[in-house]
Amino acid sequence: INFTVEDHDGNRQSIEAPDDMGLSLMEVLKASEYPVLATCGGMALCATCHVEILEGKSELGVATDTELDQLEALPEYFPTSRLACQIRISDILEGSVVKLRGEDN
Ligand code: FES
Repeated sequence: INFTVEDHDGNRQSIEAPDDMGLSLMEVLKASEYPVLATCGGMALCATCHVEILEGKSELGVATDTELDQLEALPEYFPTSRLACQIRISDILEGSVVKLRGEDN
């Protein structure tokens, strides 16, 4: 599948990712060398993988309760905020635009 990533500087890049390997969006972003700390390793505990879904299927903007607890603890989050580690790569992501919101390191 293909989707677009917008980095902290507003640069957009198209990313291709396999949807049959059970990868999370966080894992794909890290593999693509984006600055995602993912301190908790994908346990929905650190919120450093915060992203905003700028364009995409509406389901993508719906965070689970576990995610919401983390997102609400952030200084800034948006109705379309998600934790990238809680999004599985699947065709639901096709054509979406994901903006990095985690800390820039
Ligand atoms: Fe820690 Fe997603 S990697 S919350």
